[in-house]
Amino acid sequence: MDQVIDESLSLLEALSEAALLASGGRVIAFNAAAQALLGPSIEGASLEQIISHPAAIEALERSGQDSAEGIELTGLGGSRRHWLMQFAKIGNQAVLVRFVDRSEARAAEQMRVDFVANASHELRTPLSTLIGYTETLREQADELDGETRERFLSVVHEEARRMQRIVEDLISLSRIEAEKFTAPTQAIELAALVDQAIAGAERIAAERGSTLVSKVAPGLPGIAADRSQILQLLDNLLMNALRYGDPGTPVTVAAEVEGGMVHLTVADEGEGIAPEHIGRVTERFYRVDTSRSRSLGGTGLGLSIVKHIVERHRGRLSIDSELGRGTTIHVLLPLSVS
Ligand SMILES: Nc1ncnc2c1ncn2[C@@H]1O[C@H](COP(=O)(O)OP(=O)(O)O)[C@@H](O)[C@H]1O
Ligand SMILES: [Mg+2]
Repeated sequence: MDQVIDESLSLLEALSEAALLASGGRVIAFNAAAQALLGPSIEGASLEQIISHPAAIEALERSGQDSAEGIELTGLGGSRRHWLMQFAKIGNQAVLVRFVDRSEARAAEQMRVDFVANASHELRTPLSTLIGYTETLREQADELDGETRERFLSVVHEEARRMQRIVEDLISLSRIEAEKFTAPTQAIELAALVDQAIAGAERIAAERGSTLVSKVAPGLPGIAADRSQILQLLDNLLMNALRYGDPGTPVTVAAEVEGGMVHLTVADEGEGIAPEHIGRVTERFYRVDTSRSRSLGGTGLGLSIVKHIVERHRGRLSIDSELGRGTTIHVLLPLSVS
């Protein structure tokens, strides 16, 4: 038995996660991480004492065989922490117990759950409007005059378009996420894409009396990029700058080389974003003013798409904004290797 303990001690210390060796329901060896997690009185303690989780203890006692899948534990070392307790038989009498930290995985799972709930909610609102209006159009077909009917039909069309925008943005997000481990390698001329994005936004700029200004440094080297994603990034940033910038003010796109990367900025003069919102506007469906964003045709997904595109490009995104003055979005993108 002593030999088992000696051999196990060095093994335990080599593990990055909290781990202990137990025999006859008592702790006979442990590593520093286990002591940090389970407390200073871990030495010689009974497992029941240190893991107040009956199902886990029961499973441990039954552990004639190893538990590859392990047991989920909550609350050890803080109420928001989640652990996967795994154990394996060592020799005839001892059991190796490992505590794998699953807190981050759990938080990510929670985010996914919230995301599905939010997406469903965003789609349900226009859907209810669609159903309501089409029912009225059908049931009161004889009483509605032509003008009213046209008005109702355009509401139906507008709400269907809104649902389409949400679904398209959701598809974009999942496509970009699916590719996040493969960095783009194509060499792209950013100047041409900026011109293309500006041309695409020209009509909306004219409607708002705004001008679009390009200040791309001449002879800018190519970036390692995915052409359609960078165009999508520019579209989203230009659209935000036009929507949230004051009518009649310029929107400026600039790009230059800085510290071995291309520094792209999209700047507007407008309402700006209050400091407490800046950190959150890249979250999915987060808006400073939801009804305003909706009335402008926003989905609440634009900046989260931008963030994912920048991450996939191994770039950096930051937001610089002052209330009542305007916002500048900064994007750093890697140069293509030539
Ligand atoms: N240029 C900007 N100026 C001021 N606020 C902005 C700007 N860009 C984004 N925001 C804020 O961030 C929110 C999230 O932006 P985004 O993800 O593009 O969603 P959407 O524009 O569809 O609402 C917006 O609703 C708005 O409140
Ligand atoms: Mg937007």
